[in-house]
Parts: sequence; structure tokens; C-alpha cells
Amino acid sequence: MSKSENVIKKFDNSVMHSYGRYPLVLEHGEGRTACDEDGKRYIDFGSGIGTNSLGYCDEEWADAVCAQVRKLQHNSNYYYTSVQADFAETLCKSTGYSKVFFGNSGAEANECAIKIARKYSFDKYGKGRHTIITLVNSFHGRTIATLSATGQEVFHNYFFPFLDGFVNVTANDIDDLKAKLDDTVCAVMLEYIQGEGGVNSLDQEFVDAVYELCGQKDVLVIADEIQTGVGRTGKLLAGDWFGKKADITTLAKGIAGGLPMGACLVNEKLSQVLTPGTHGSTFGGNPVSCAGGLVVFGRVANESFLSGVQAKAAMIREKLSTCNEVAGVSGIGLMVGISLKTKKAGDVAKEALNRGLLVLTAKEKVRLLPPLTITESELSEGLDILIGILEE
Ligand SMILES: Cc1ncc(COP(=O)(O)O)c(C=O)c1O
Repeated sequence: MSKSENVIKKFDNSVMHSYGRYPLVLEHGEGRTACDEDGKRYIDFGSGIGTNSLGYCDEEWADAVCAQVRKLQHNSNYYYTSVQADFAETLCKSTGYSKVFFGNSGAEANECAIKIARKYSFDKYGKGRHTIITLVNSFHGRTIATLSATGQEVFHNYFFPFLDGFVNVTANDIDDLKAKLDDTVCAVMLEYIQGEGGVNSLDQEFVDAVYELCGQKDVLVIADEIQTGVGRTGKLLAGDWFGKKADITTLAKGIAGGLPMGACLVNEKLSQVLTPGTHGSTFGGNPVSCAGGLVVFGRVANESFLSGVQAKAAMIREKLSTCNEVAGVSGIGLMVGISLKTKKAGDVAKEALNRGLLVLTAKEKVRLLPPLTITESELSEGLDILIGILEE
């Protein structure tokens, strides 16, 4: 039995089978390359589902994280730390938001957004204005509230009852939005590019209508930028491509370079909604994650880094346009969905693994979310493998 087979056997004996895993055991990573237990190397076009934003074990990031671990690994939120203050200030300054609440995941960031939207409305208008509109095909997380928000029937099984107060509108359907935006609504929650839903961008016209209609009724806009934020699209926030700033933006995934963190950012209007005792999280704002996040933002939140991301994004699209099997490419920046003419995305991902390339899938598409630091030559090498599979 190989080393990997041993690990998989032990793992499956003790870990619940809630994921469909590939038979791959990663042992270490370096830059944009992962290495398995048996010494095989893989170019990583998935970055832990858009999480290892600076690749594996970036030196500056690892130094900052290790230094923080040796200094203070955790403290309760009864006390302050300077590293959390620094990261909060960096986040607010670079995104233009007033205040942040820290959790540990995307779902937690969205839970916070939902609570803030409902409390803002309750404080100002009283009971009965609690509905949150989300979009068909959206994905907002796996907790009961964020599953209730998620606009995909496939997730609404087994765990009944789901929460009341979520209504779905078809993405890009302005009439549907108008019909459902009644007096019970306190917020509209959207992903500018639906990630898990299949890498589908919203239309500018629809986004404009959301902001205009919500603005008229003091209905909040919540942008779930958990997958699209932190430079993934070649702008710090994907909302920048649409010329929009939501009342609330949620971030997670790449925010701390692979350490658990979620952030709920709010504008001035909402900055006093949460008061002592109304929300909390034991690990939220963990100093080690904040130290990692500071390095990520130090690197990503600058124009030359972001234009580098855009250049790499253009290169991917140019190379894919030469491939006959590619029916279309969706997404923005380093968030890429590839529609195929004849092949199945799952089969392509499996074959890519055999050939030393990690790719993701989203619905029927092959999905790429490479580390933002990937080089053009690494991209080229990985794309050659992918196109080789697609053209066979
Ligand atoms: C847009 C979006 N929102 C929320 C989540 C949930 O994040 P987490 O798995 O960190 O809870 C995800 C995860 O894929 C996501 O893509």
C-alpha cells in the first residue's frame, strides 16, 4: 500500500464522509505547487477554493504568521490586540468601509450581514420588515440561515425546517426583482459573480436596478464577496467592476491567505447597529489570522498587483480561445468558468489530477481559481496540460 493509500484508509475510518474527495493526499506546498505524500507534484489552479491567495507558504506571510503564533496566538474578545486593530484599519481603509466584524468563515460573515440587515430595519422601522431577497442559483454558506439564503433547491433538503424570511429572485430579471421587493424586505443579497452556482456574472443593468430600487426604499444591499473579493477579479472588490459599493460586503476565503477568517464590512450608516452583546464569535479576529491578513492586504491592495492579476486573466482567456473544445469562458479576472462542448468537467478534473494539475468544477463548468501570485510561466504550463486534455 502506498503512503497515500494508508492515509486515505485511516482518514475514511474516522472522518465523516460529508465531502466527495479525490484520492489525493497533499503533504506540502511551495509557491503555486502542491506535493502529495508520494512525492508527486501538482500545479495548483484551485488554491484551496480561492483561499491560498498568495500560494503555499509564502515567505513573508509565513514569517508574519509564525511570529504572531510565538507572540500571542489567541485572546478573548473581552480584550484588544494591536494586530487586530491594524488589520481592521487596513481592511476599512483599503475597501472604503467604516467598520468590520470578524468571524472565521464565509458563512459566519454572511450570518453577521443578515443579523445587521434585520437589526438595522428593526431599530428604524420596527417588526415585519425582515425579508432578505437572494438570487436563484446563489450560494451563501452551509449554516441553517445561510442555507436558507442560498437560492438552490438542491441545498434545501434533509435539514427542515429552514428559516423564514428569504425570497429568491431570478438573477438578471429586473421585473422579478420589482415584483418581490415589497414592504417586508430589508435587504437584497447578491454575488456579483455566482461562484458555486457556475461562475455566472450579473448584468450591469440588473446591478444598477438593484441599487436604484434599494436606494429608493432604504433597503440594504449586501454583496457576498467571499469568493470574488480580495483581488480575485483583478480589482480589490468585484463591486469595483460594476461601479458599486454595497452597504455591507462580506469577505472570507483568500482574506488571510489560507487561515480561517471571515469579515463583515459595513458603511457609516450601519456602523452602530451591532451593540455589546448582540453578536460575537470566540475565535473571531484571531491574531494569527489577522497577521496573515495584513500580509495579504499589504500585497494585494495595490494597483500594480491588481493590474498583474488582470494581465494574467487576459492571458488565460487568450490561451483558452485557441482550444476547440471550449464553448465559452465566464467570470472575471482569476475567477474563470470554462464551458465545454463535449467533455464532462468532472472527468477533466480527474484527468488533470493524473497529469499533475489541480482544477475545480462549478456545475457543468471547469473552474479555475489560481493563487493570485501565479506566474505567467506556471499558468502557461498548467494551461498546456488542461488544453492537452480538452483536445484529446
Ligand atoms: C459566495 C460564497 N459565500 C459563502 C460561502 C461560504 O463560505 P465558507 O465555506 O467559508 O463558510 C462560499 C463558499 O464557497 C461562497 O463561495
